[in-house]
Amino acid sequence: MKTTITLIKADIGSIGGHVRTCDVTTDVVCQRIDKAHQSGLIIDYKIWNAGDDTEILMTHTRGVDDEEIHKLAFDALMDGTKNAKERGLYGAGQDILKEAFSGNVRGMGPGVAEMEFKERPADPFVVFAADKTAPGAFNYPIFRVFADPFNTAGLIIDPKLHDGFLFEVYDIKNDKMVTMDTPSEVYDLLALIGATEDYVIKRVHSKDKSRGIAAAISTEKLYAVAGKYIGKDDPAAIVRAQSGFPATGEILEGFALGHLVTGWMRGSHNGPLMPVPLHYSQCTRFDGPPRVTGLAFSMKDGKLTEPIDVFDDPAWDLTRDQCMYVADYLRRHGPFEPHRLPPSSMEYTTLPNVLNKLKARFKPVK
Ligand code: F6R
Ligand code: MG
Ligand code: MG
Repeated sequence: MKTTITLIKADIGSIGGHVRTCDVTTDVVCQRIDKAHQSGLIIDYKIWNAGDDTEILMTHTRGVDDEEIHKLAFDALMDGTKNAKERGLYGAGQDILKEAFSGNVRGMGPGVAEMEFKERPADPFVVFAADKTAPGAFNYPIFRVFADPFNTAGLIIDPKLHDGFLFEVYDIKNDKMVTMDTPSEVYDLLALIGATEDYVIKRVHSKDKSRGIAAAISTEKLYAVAGKYIGKDDPAAIVRAQSGFPATGEILEGFALGHLVTGWMRGSHNGPLMPVPLHYSQCTRFDGPPRVTGLAFSMKDGKLTEPIDVFDDPAWDLTRDQCMYVADYLRRHGPFEPHRLPPSSMEYTTLPNVLNKLKARFKPVK
């Protein structure tokens, strides 16, 4: 039997601005998912929040891109949207760009990360969900976890990891993809994924086919669907751990820098990605700084254990302190680059509306 893990997420409204989801609305989302759990359509589920985003994790045996599973999550998000609108939550239904469901949620607004594999006797995995950032935010940690021996000791020490991994990279602006081999193509891979606004890692695979997929990341770009800035496409990722995959600690180590990502206030600023426990999963300072939550699960035949809130540990305090030091330093740049994003990345924000007003005043330079 193969198990599928599907994570579908969307911002359907939040309290007090774009700060945090509302428990009452989340309960409404839960109700429909719970019914599907009781009816046997899904084996198990977990629902939580990354800032103003609702994350729905489901396990089942129907494979990826399954219409019924996607419709279930979409309908649950629509239930939540209705509740959010009735109760005046901010940005209610923000990520629901199309209301008529047709086949799967891709292109409709919500983000999707999913994978199907034959379970090992024990199959631990970690789910990361970020807020106030963009899909390319996971390029750096996923690269370090699966291709950098200074991060992942197993790449050197463990024969099961020593052959490296295959990276599926999407050119998100041109709807193309390429598969890159590591370690042999590490430099070429970095040439692409260092440009986080253009190229994003979509999946990582073990070279041992029996082990299968190692990681899947949501890469939906809302502006590509809506044609204008909507939300910041806050990404989520599922990463399998241990016995032929990086150890859980090697996976988490990828987030120890608090690396700079795009997003933050108005989706228009660079800032550090701060790893936080769920009780800090709310964006406050300057609508941020961008943050990432992590839940580790074990699973048997699709049945989940309770999660471990992996960043709920003083081991992450130093990273968080460094993030806030960098956040504070960047904030003092106000509207100046590189705190504010360059014009190419501001194309889909509201800035062009402001600049258009100035156009007529420009005269040729003599
Ligand atoms: C970033 C984000 C927020 C909003 C900002 C303005 O992803 O969602 O920073 O862009 O709060 O929001 P509006 O335009 O809704 O007032
Ligand atoms: Mg929002
Ligand atoms: Mg968000």
